[in-house]
Amino acid sequence: MYKIEELSKIYVMGRVRVKALDAVSFLIPDGEMLGLAGRSGSGKSTLLKQIGLLDRPTSGRVFFGDREVTRLTEGKRAQLRLQYLGYVFQEYALLGELTAHQNVYLPGMMLGRKNIDYKQRAKELLGMVGLADRIRHYPKELSGGEQQRVAIARALINSPRLLLADEPCANLDTVSGKFVMETLFKLNRELKVTVIFVSHDPVDRQYGRRTIILSDGNISEDIYLT
Ligand SMILES: Nc1ncnc2c1ncn2[C@@H]1O[C@H](COP(=O)(O)OP(=O)(O)O)[C@@H](O)[C@H]1O
Ligand SMILES: [Mg+2]
Repeated sequence: MYKIEELSKIYVMGRVRVKALDAVSFLIPDGEMLGLAGRSGSGKSTLLKQIGLLDRPTSGRVFFGDREVTRLTEGKRAQLRLQYLGYVFQEYALLGELTAHQNVYLPGMMLGRKNIDYKQRAKELLGMVGLADRIRHYPKELSGGEQQRVAIARALINSPRLLLADEPCANLDTVSGKFVMETLFKLNRELKVTVIFVSHDPVDRQYGRRTIILSDGNISEDIYLT
């Protein structure tokens, strides 16, 4: 269970203050597949960064289970990011000089868990995202959709509890985008990983069990699909 409590973020740039999140509160049960929607500038990425421990709030708190994570030291937050969270961004952010396989297992190597064959796990994950025959390819030898699926496999290498995807299909054509969304959907079902994804394509809402719509840093709608 994740708890977002009265979360606010004000960006200050010189004399300009932007209230990107305005005392937002909600709960996310484990295993949820949650879509975040809303106009450009409504605070979606800001909210995802707060839940993903990539930035700190101006006020309010985020809980992972019983643990309040907003005020942990940077070292503890870095550890949680590596062990507990997976990220997929709009731009795939793969390392060009590494193969698909190496890109996927790198965060496993960084975590350095004993007794886990991360190279084997990376192969399995590439199989799960439909790229078993592409493991020796370099990013430039892959389509955008394939690169994004490598990025999803990489996000999963340390078995995160929570996967955050910020407009993962924004740079993809419709068919590749659909395949990426279906991949996230399948991972949510099969690996029971909690997924929060941002999309402004209403078609993607079908993949979530729930959609939260943000408007000027507030929740304007919280919709459950039945
Ligand atoms: N690092 C930043 N510094 C200053 N303002 C920012 C920063 N990031 C986002 N903003 C502003 O905060 C608001 C919300 O941005 P964002 O969360 O990126 O929206 P969305 O992802 O919904 O498009 C926007 O007005 C944006 O311009
Ligand atoms: Mg955004």
